[in-house]
Amino acid sequence: MKPIQWGILSTGGIAETFARGLKTSKTGVLAAVASRTRRAAQAFAQKYHVPKAFGTYQELLDDPGVEAVYIAPPHPFHAQWAVLAARAGKHILCEKPLTMDYPDALKVVEAARRNRVFLLEAFMYRCHPQTAKLVELIRGRAIGEVRLIQASFCFDKPLDLKHRLFNRKLGGGGILDIGCYPVSMSRLLAGAALGRPFAEPLEVKGTAVVGQKSRVDEIALASLKFPGGILAELSCASRVDRGTSMVKVDGSKGSLIVPSPWFATWDPGTSYLLLRRKGEKKERKIPVHSDRNLYTVEADAVAASLRKGLRESPAMPWADTLGNMRVLDLWRKSAGAFY
Ligand SMILES: NC(=O)c1ccc[n+]([C@@H]2O[C@H](COP(=O)([O-])OP(=O)(O)OC[C@H]3O[C@@H](n4cnc5c(N)ncnc54)[C@H](OP(=O)(O)O)[C@@H]3O)[C@@H](O)[C@H]2O)c1
Repeated sequence: MKPIQWGILSTGGIAETFARGLKTSKTGVLAAVASRTRRAAQAFAQKYHVPKAFGTYQELLDDPGVEAVYIAPPHPFHAQWAVLAARAGKHILCEKPLTMDYPDALKVVEAARRNRVFLLEAFMYRCHPQTAKLVELIRGRAIGEVRLIQASFCFDKPLDLKHRLFNRKLGGGGILDIGCYPVSMSRLLAGAALGRPFAEPLEVKGTAVVGQKSRVDEIALASLKFPGGILAELSCASRVDRGTSMVKVDGSKGSLIVPSPWFATWDPGTSYLLLRRKGEKKERKIPVHSDRNLYTVEADAVAASLRKGLRESPAMPWADTLGNMRVLDLWRKSAGAFY
């Protein structure tokens, strides 16, 4: 089959990561890149051998040769460009969080539905075989009934008010940028425990430290209560390193630990899930192999859905994205993190 002709909107950090991921994809090629400035687009095009470089995002959307776009500016600009991309008939892989809040996410989903284009929020870990294995183990009751989910995404970054993470105008704040991962993981795993693709919490309680200088949330906690008596304990931080970002699921018959839940091995390689079952002296190490880079896997997941004629990906259907955005709104509200 002919490879998907991709276009990337923006030339920032994750745009570069995705361009490298596409290089080793057999299902897609990078046909065009767009930046707010022609010079940045041309530099990016030269570095990644991209045939077309545009000095505005709209020019890329107007190019009939581009089939799918990867939307990668800071989150306040996702909604606008995703809606315009849908109207231009482009399939969409849009960086997380899909938008700044639930109402805007609904607009994007409606635009995709109306224009009959594919749309996936770019949670790369959802496309990775490690996550599929984790879901399989929980569904198969490897740890019995799930009772408690812990998930965190934390790092310590020096305060830099120009960086988008600490800049309110660029959607700064940890809950939206990294808290979206633990929320999405807890909803996925609670769903797996309940025999559904994902689950919605009955209660969301959050708190956060909002930086005095940045005025965005820098350290945040949330507790979620799901149906079936499942609780989740979530954390995200841009100003404190908890040692590791991890996921742990405790059940009636044991625990599952994911030492590297968001990036696995990043490059091709073998990552591990750890299974500690009650009554077993030794922890079991469950290997999961990926023959491709994390972002290659993501691009290939989009291609696989497109080949089947799907408009939503099983990795993260639209209702799942909307549910995630709704929980992020509730977390931010209870933590006092507003824009
Ligand atoms: N899935 C993942 O692993 C992952 C990792 C990191 C980030 N992300 C997500 O990807 C998005 C971008 O993050 P990033 O780390 O790549 O950011 P970044 O390095 O700061 O790059 C953002 C790019 O967006 C474009 N842009 C458009 N309007 C802008 C504006 N008003 N101000 C600044 N830049 C603007 C710029 O490219 P041009 O000048 O070329 O237009 C800029 O280079 C965020 O939504 C983030 O949540 C995802």
